[in-house]
Amino acid sequence: MEKREELYRGKAKSVYKTDDADRLVLLFRNDTSAFDGKRIEQLDRKGMVNNKFNAFIMQKLEAAGVPTQFDRLLGDNECLVKKLDMIPVECVVRNYAAGSLVKRLGVEEGKQLVPSTFELFLKNDAMGDPFINESHVIAFGWATAEQLATMKQLSLKVNEVLSQLFDDAGLLLVDFKLEFGVFHGQIVLGDEFSPDGCRLWDKETRKKMDKDRFRQGLGGVIEAYEEVAQRLGVSL
Ligand code: TMP
Ligand code: ASP
Repeated sequence: MEKREELYRGKAKSVYKTDDADRLVLLFRNDTSAFDGKRIEQLDRKGMVNNKFNAFIMQKLEAAGVPTQFDRLLGDNECLVKKLDMIPVECVVRNYAAGSLVKRLGVEEGKQLVPSTFELFLKNDAMGDPFINESHVIAFGWATAEQLATMKQLSLKVNEVLSQLFDDAGLLLVDFKLEFGVFHGQIVLGDEFSPDGCRLWDKETRKKMDKDRFRQGLGGVIEAYEEVAQRLGVSL
């Protein structure tokens, strides 16, 4: 496999073509972004930690029957993935109230949500990733009804698998965001799963162990990511 030119540069990752039309290289950079890219800082080791964290989680999900784009690690900051046609919609599952839900509804942070909620956002930084519903996704052709049903079912399956995995490590999976794409006609989990795109709280103390430490200026961002990785048994 040969790495070729840059295809796309996101806020935290860069995507490269390869000599295989069906495969891409993902490069996890140290850039850490919040508020739709309005704040970006470099955090030492973040690219490496998120790349290895993502590889660990994607392999757990694949083993549990969730199709993922992950192929293999290539180095500290890079992995090889399937080339998906990305669906421009973010799927958010929540087990406890936090973040934009608390702002939007004025509910108390930390309230347990039964059942877990499923929300959709349009992936569009310029518009601030607006909240949308299932009929918008279909009416604007971002995904078909069948694709959307699969995305929802897979998001809830990911929640089941990862809630248990994090619980075993003494952590609450508060919420998370997933992105999907299409690979040879099949809906496949894309993007990444790391503490950048989810909320994790210590079960006992409720200490925040995710990107909220960066968003809220709490400090110790990478130290928290590394502690989560170590509790899960991810080798860094
Ligand atoms: P929210 O509370 O801001 O809506 O975010 C819910 C979860 O989704 C949280 O774990 C952060 C994650 N998320 C992202 O990773 N990227 C995004 O662009 C958005 C809107 C949320
Ligand atoms: N990932 C988004 C951004 O970079 C939103 C966030 O995580 O706060 O701005």
